[in-house]
Parts: sequence; structure tokens; C-alpha cells
Amino acid sequence: MIVLGIESSCDETAAALVKDGNVILSSVVASQIDTHHQYGGVVPELASRMHIEAIDPVICQALQQADIDITDIDGVAATRGPGLIGALLVGFNFAKAFAWAAKLPFAGVNHLEAHIYSLLLTRPHPDLPFICLVVSGGHTNIYYVSSPDQFELMGQTRDDAAGEAFDKVAKMLGLGYPGGPVIERLARTKDPAKIPFPRTMLEKGSFDFSFSGLKSSVARHIHDHDISTEDDKAQVAASFQAAVIDVLSDKLIRAARFKNCPRIGVSGGVSANRTFVETLTRKAGSKQISVFAPPVSLCGDNAAMIAARGTRMIEQGELCRLDHDVFSRTRI
Ligand code: KG4
Ligand code: ZN
Repeated sequence: MIVLGIESSCDETAAALVKDGNVILSSVVASQIDTHHQYGGVVPELASRMHIEAIDPVICQALQQADIDITDIDGVAATRGPGLIGALLVGFNFAKAFAWAAKLPFAGVNHLEAHIYSLLLTRPHPDLPFICLVVSGGHTNIYYVSSPDQFELMGQTRDDAAGEAFDKVAKMLGLGYPGGPVIERLARTKDPAKIPFPRTMLEKGSFDFSFSGLKSSVARHIHDHDISTEDDKAQVAASFQAAVIDVLSDKLIRAARFKNCPRIGVSGGVSANRTFVETLTRKAGSKQISVFAPPVSLCGDNAAMIAARGTRMIEQGELCRLDHDVFSRTRI
């Protein structure tokens, strides 16, 4: 079965064709980062307008790259939520109309479940069950994935998402948007232990996160010290990143031990941070826990993961009706 996946929940317009839920025939991502960069974050109205412009060419490119015809498509899947409503509506309504016109089954996919499925597209991929961290600009959620359709939410952030913290710290340092890649690059040159930023672990036994204390602590440090040179900024970046990585890694390992599960997967934009993946792999390895992370192309928002999740939903008969709508907040 070949499924067309469409993603438009935030600032990427993406389309992909996936065969049998696990073979990527094509995956095209049109990023709007250059536009939003100048405003220091995503501007929802601009995002919607740009999705409208990009969606047609992105889908055509996905068809061309896969070298297939529209008539070869067996099903359609699009992100239904969570995300920016105006942005979601573009991809979701396009997919709905396409599926209706072509008389194809249509699945409305939860974006977070799709990020979990990006691990099932990864080679090698973790066997079930596994612990999965979905860590992006909007979410920091730990799930216990016990079957292809069961995602038990074990913990989540109580304030900022980890990616949001990267973006806000980058903004404080005058490094622009998005913050993650530039912080990771600068951090490489410095000793992460130099500035002892806090590691907020919350109550004993909790798998929740909080990054607002860390963010305030970085703001205080920047206020109290001269951080005008690239060198000073790199030091703050390294120590901030280390604090985030420590908390994410420790909570994940605790969750794995709590569930007696020797496999951890990470997905979402922040999992593109290879320093995080390497640190987690080392720490978990010493406890006989294996770590899985998608290639960078599948970490951030993409449509291959939407098509993969959508394939399963279509197989299970979990289809969207024409009167179904998008949603902005998470349902898992
Ligand atoms: O999954 P994603 O592309 O979009 C959302 O659904 O939010 O994630 C974007 C987030 C941004 O906050 C960005 O700063 C962060 O992922 N990010 C990173 C890295 N690359 C992207 N954070 C840390 N290190 C990176 N290398
Ligand atoms: Zn995402």
C-alpha cells in the first residue's frame, strides 16, 4: 500500500510517499525558517499563507521523486493536530479534498504519534515495547509505547518545551531562530561543567519536566556577566545545553528502569542534537539500555512519519470523515 503523507502543523510544508508503512519512496520538506527567522519565532498568519503557496509544488515534487503516478496512491494521511490551526487547515483540507476526489481512504494523524512512528522508519528500529521521548519546540513528552497503537503518556513538561528553551536562550544570546542548531554548534568548543546551571528534577518518581527555572537562571547569568564575545556565548550555550541533556537523559533512563524496558527512542526536532543522543547512548549503555534516534532528516517535522502512522490507521480502519476537523492541543 502506498500512502501520501502531508504535514503542515507549524513552519514546514511537507509531503511524502511511503510504501507499506516503512519504505520511504520520497520525502520533501519545504522549510519556512528563513521567513520566520527575521521575527525571532514562527508567525502563525505568515505560516498559513506560505503553506498555501507551497503545498501544490511540494506534493508534485514528492510524486516526481517517488516516480509514481497519482493513480498509484492507495491512501492519504495528513496531520490533524496538535499545531497551529490555520497552518493545519491547509494540509488537512488539501488531503481531505484529494482523498474525496480520488475516492481514497483518509487518515487524520496525531502529530505526536507520528513523531513516535519516525522511530519505526529508522533502521534499526526499536522492538516494542520502548520508551519514547518526543522532544520539540512544542512538546517534551515521555511515552511508554507498548503496541503500534498504544502510547501511555508517562510525563510531560509543566512549562516550556525543551526546544522552546533552546530557542529562548538563543534569543537571549542574540543568536536568532531556531536556537537548537546554533547552540549545539557553539557548545562543542566549551567545557559544559563550567557554569553550574540547575537541573530541575521535580518530585521523586515524577517523569515531568520543568525548564523555566533553567531559563531564568541563564537570564540572570547573562544579566550579571559580560557575554559580548562569541566565546562567552559559547560557554553559556555549552553549560545550558548540558543541563537540558542531563535532565532529559536521567528522566528517560528512570522511565526505562521503572517500566523494566531496555529500549529508549528519541524523536522530534531536539533529537537532531547529536550531543544529546551521544550522551544519552553512553549513560543508558552503562545500564544495558539501548538508544534509538532517527536520522536528522526524520527528527524534525516531515511527512514520511505522517504517512507511516497514517498507513497503520488506514489498515485499522481508523478513518477521518469529511466533517472531521483539526485540533490545536494534544489528545495523547
Ligand atoms: O519537531 P520540530 O521540527 O518542530 C516542532 O514540532 O516544534 O522541532 C523544532 C525545535 C526547535 O525548538 C529547534 O530549536 C529544536 O527543535 N532543534 C534543536 C536542534 N535542532 C532543532 N534543539 C537542539 N539541538 C538541535 N540540534
Ligand atoms: Zn514536530
